[in-house]
Amino acid sequence: MSGLPERIASRLRLPLIVAPMLNVSGVELVTAACGAGAIGAFPAANPGSAAELDRWLSEIEQAAAAADNPAPHCPNLIVRDPRLAEHLEVVVAHRVEMVIASVGSPAPLVEPLHDVGALVFADVATLEHARKAVATGVDGLVLLTAGAGGQTGWMNPFAFTRAVRSTFDGPIVLAGGISDGHALRAALDLGADLAYMGTRFIASQESLADRVYKEMLVESSLDDVVLTEAFTGLPANMLAPSIRAAGLDPEALDESVTPAGAAELYGARAASAGPRRWTDIFSAGHSVSGVERIEPAAEIIERTRAEYLSPRSSSPAC
Ligand SMILES: Cc1cc2nc3c(=O)[nH]c(=O)nc-3n(C[C@H](O)[C@H](O)[C@H](O)COP(=O)(O)O)c2cc1C
Repeated sequence: MSGLPERIASRLRLPLIVAPMLNVSGVELVTAACGAGAIGAFPAANPGSAAELDRWLSEIEQAAAAADNPAPHCPNLIVRDPRLAEHLEVVVAHRVEMVIASVGSPAPLVEPLHDVGALVFADVATLEHARKAVATGVDGLVLLTAGAGGQTGWMNPFAFTRAVRSTFDGPIVLAGGISDGHALRAALDLGADLAYMGTRFIASQESLADRVYKEMLVESSLDDVVLTEAFTGLPANMLAPSIRAAGLDPEALDESVTPAGAAELYGARAASAGPRRWTDIFSAGHSVSGVERIEPAAEIIERTRAEYLSPRSSSPAC
């Protein structure tokens, strides 16, 4: 964890961020993650309003004050969200320690967050994104790679981490396809300082996802994940059984839809009575094959830590 400041690294029991997930990450999941020694992230959009965001952060801070050396919590600001300015004001007022910027340039966030001492991480999917984000002065990068849950990347994680690490000394977080401590260790071997685990925590007891979603994750495997632009206008990984349950054919989706068109059809405020993305059409990454049961977040973290600390093989003599 060399690239991470000591004030953060010293509070982690393993180099893990429980990834921010729309409609999934809430106060309970974040506090459970932080209490178990992993960074707990959540989208600032999840609370629903700036006043609710303020309340969520106060609750998370109270839980942190009562915990023994908890890991940091980390709001995720979606740059293209029309409520960005309100969200930024609240996280600045709470003087959070770190923020992840996604969907858009982190440029407007860097100065106000640095002014209160927060680290800024930017979510990037290409080398060009990474170069531009670094030029804005961000402290760290989240490398979104192929197979990630939600709106996914497409880069191979080996090649992407190597290419970014060869030009960037700051903290790198590898995201996509990591579902156990062995993969977490591999991410660090590649040159990352931390890794995201998202999909695995949707099935935690504390997540906001409903029971049907959690059970579908337990029953699904890698082969059930469909890469499609149909629901967001951008490449996203979705669960085929949920697409079928919504009366659609995963083999015959409209891949030509624009982001605005997809919002009209499947967004939370869509006019039609049809299925909604994220709440009826469920997202999961390739790491879904690692979801075996619904269990407390602390147990997922503890098992991941045990795997992380017990490499499967020592260097083979060859
Ligand atoms: C249901 C769902 C919602 C997501 N929402 C967000 C989000 O609001 N902001 C964000 O930066 N990433 C979001 N992501 C992406 C995750 O933060 C992370 O990149 C991804 O889950 C990592 O891949 P994994 O699921 O294989 O661990 C979401 C992912 C999922 C599965």
